[in-house]
Amino acid sequence: MRIGMLTGGGDCPGLNAVIRAVVRKGIQHYGDEFVGFMEGWRGVLDDVTMSLDLETTSGILHKGGTILRSSRTNVKKIPGGIEKCLEVIGKHKLDALIALGGDDTQSISLALSEQGVKVVGVPKTIDNDLSGTDACFGFDTAVTIATEAVDRLHSTAEAHNRVLVVEVMGRNAGWIAITSGIAGGADVILVPEIPIDIEEVCRLLKYRHDHGKKFSIVVAAEGAVFPEGEQKSHGTALDSFGHVRLSGIGQVLAEEIEQRTKYETRSVNLGHTQRGGTPTAYDRMLATRYGIAAIDLVHEGKFGRLVVLKGTGISDIPLADAIAKTRTVGEDLLAVMRGLEPPR
Ligand code: F6P
Repeated sequence: MRIGMLTGGGDCPGLNAVIRAVVRKGIQHYGDEFVGFMEGWRGVLDDVTMSLDLETTSGILHKGGTILRSSRTNVKKIPGGIEKCLEVIGKHKLDALIALGGDDTQSISLALSEQGVKVVGVPKTIDNDLSGTDACFGFDTAVTIATEAVDRLHSTAEAHNRVLVVEVMGRNAGWIAITSGIAGGADVILVPEIPIDIEEVCRLLKYRHDHGKKFSIVVAAEGAVFPEGEQKSHGTALDSFGHVRLSGIGQVLAEEIEQRTKYETRSVNLGHTQRGGTPTAYDRMLATRYGIAAIDLVHEGKFGRLVVLKGTGISDIPLADAIAKTRTVGEDLLAVMRGLEPPR
């Protein structure tokens, strides 16, 4: 078969591992040929490709980023965009297309699938917020990086008797914040799922202070919301999928905490370091399993579907189910977080 492949949206560690697995099994077991579209849907729109074979996908398993590059191009917003994609897919005589991406990327997979393109999706996002799957590769790497940062910040916070507010990514879901916060032993964790109660934050910090600890770590999700529903963003500009660039909550919280408690407070925004560099072994494994499952789905003729992790096994669901809603942190994990807090 002739199969196209692309990576869309924010990059994430493990993308190369998926590409490698798809190409290795496709060529060696099924005799497939591949066309790699560059920079997500932009590459399909503008017909910019690279060859994907055993040689071009060799030595990439452990590398972050994506050899196909990525972009947040929304072809649905471009007049004639979907039609142009259909034309390019037809020109390359593709029997199938494998799209690696989160909900935005998969919303285009779905639109093309509805136009008759044989698409299989692979879930990808460090935010871990795609519904229908228990895990996205990239998340474990992001959490590992954030946890290491929280570990490191303990010693400098302690040396200076400071509060350190660590801002982590995750958009409107608190998966990275709650996981790295619990794993890193943060004293306060703020997630978008629970509106910020600044008085409660200061109470927790004061309790710790009054019980002998003169430093504290706060982990805040970039999408944490104030009671009025306000999030902190970098400007008001929206990307092509209608998202604002969330950023700055850490600094706002640091100023508020210092003013209310009089404890010296600093903020650190981990930003894109969470998406950079080599994937963890867990993410390489999950990405490889997804890649093998995706190429198998293509050969089973099961299209318009997304490969997913359910428990410990890989299965697949309709693309539409994956983009239906954001998967946020559940009550079970929130209870773990609360269980570690001091009494009221
Ligand atoms: O969706 C992944 C993500 O890293 C979010 O956590 C973050 O809000 C966003 O992408 C950042 O996007 P960009 O790389 O376009 O600044």
